[in-house]
Amino acid sequence: MGLPYFEINGGTRLRGTVRVSGAKNAALPIMAAAILCEGEVILRDVPRVADVFSLAELLIKLGVDVERRADGALRLVTRDEMNCRAEYDIVRKMRASICVLGPLLAKRHQAQVSMPGGCAIGDRPVDLHLRAMRLLGADVDLVAGDIVARAKRLRGREIFLGGPFGSTVLGTANAMMAATLAEGVTVIEMAACEPEVADLANFLNKCGASISGHGTPRIVVEGVRELHGCEYTIIPDRIEAGTLMVAGAITNGELTLENCRLDHLMAFVDRLAAIGVNVEKTDKGVVVSSARRLEPVDVTTQPFPGFPTDLQAQLMALLCVADGNSIITEKIFPDRFLHVAELNRMGAHLRKEGPTVIVEGVKRLVGAPVMASDLRASAALVLAGLAARGTTKVNRIYHLDRGYERFDDKLRAVGADITRKEGGDDAG
Ligand code: EPZ
Repeated sequence: MGLPYFEINGGTRLRGTVRVSGAKNAALPIMAAAILCEGEVILRDVPRVADVFSLAELLIKLGVDVERRADGALRLVTRDEMNCRAEYDIVRKMRASICVLGPLLAKRHQAQVSMPGGCAIGDRPVDLHLRAMRLLGADVDLVAGDIVARAKRLRGREIFLGGPFGSTVLGTANAMMAATLAEGVTVIEMAACEPEVADLANFLNKCGASISGHGTPRIVVEGVRELHGCEYTIIPDRIEAGTLMVAGAITNGELTLENCRLDHLMAFVDRLAAIGVNVEKTDKGVVVSSARRLEPVDVTTQPFPGFPTDLQAQLMALLCVADGNSIITEKIFPDRFLHVAELNRMGAHLRKEGPTVIVEGVKRLVGAPVMASDLRASAALVLAGLAARGTTKVNRIYHLDRGYERFDDKLRAVGADITRKEGGDDAG
């Protein structure tokens, strides 16, 4: 049988309208936060992607009923609080499972979460998550590969969440979720400012939490006794939106994106403008179109509101066909460059020097069989395939399915020649 893969015949200009889905990275912690709530949580615009299915599977094991309603909304209600354990099998599949740690500890007073390992994008420590739980008063041990945390009642206090690479998105989410039910006031300094963290805070406030300062590096949480459920709509996925913008630009096409928040994409749009891609807000949505000649640029990934690491691979695909040399520096995950060798297989001229890649623009990319290594790298290879001459076969697209909702269908609807096939190659 083999695995699913994409076959892409490049060279068609994309034209038309695409709706951006709800943000995976906002939906995941918000789903985990349902553990904290008494009563029903109804979430709208939760994308149908593999990571959401994996987290739903974990939440069901943790006694939360998770159901997709006929109207598309996700309904979550806690039925049983006995099980507090997230096993290796599921954490290994999806690192974001770590975001049940804070909610379990705050609501059920104990949590046992398998320690996540590294992944294709590099070392991914969780020391800052553990520091936050300890500062809130939990006893935290590592037992046979599991994080085991206990606390009768968490107590609010000051938490500094800065690490060698800046703040931590899911660490801030965990600290904030745990603090909602702690006694007293918690101040999180050097909190992550990402829109997904702010979305989680808005959701928690709607459930009765008292959080302020979200979206800034200083978040203040006043503990409350109890959280109730609510209905909430997840923000649009800024990374999917950015990926679609590159799809429009790399094919010299014109795409209109519905459900797109430009205020979440300022650094990215700034770089697109420097490259020569037009991005314009209109009544119908955000219109992206590209002039023929693409200018090279330098870009460095940074925490929000800087340029997002989750769009680094996609921008690299675009810069491969710019007219000159670009420099891309990765400051969040310095090893997140597995797509470099694959793009070179398609005729790109990329040279990696430590956490930096020098991109020498080429006239055209050429279709080839390539292998996806992680979610955003897969997207970059699809984008390169859309622009390349000839046929590109992107193997291991299960990585892409983790975070992009019906990506092939969306691209096909605006003119891409992309087909999902069975029988792909999984050779290492
Ligand atoms: C979130 O991961 C996202 N995942 C990632 O998206 C994204 O790349 C990343 O934030 C950075 O924006 C989800 O939201 C589910 P971090 P997270 O903790 O929270 C270091 C995608 O493609 N660090 O903000 O796990 C860490 O090594 C995914 O959708 C510590 O040193 O990332 C990194 O250098 C991939 N100690 C930096 O901080 C810690 O305890 C930022 O990581 C935690 C992190």
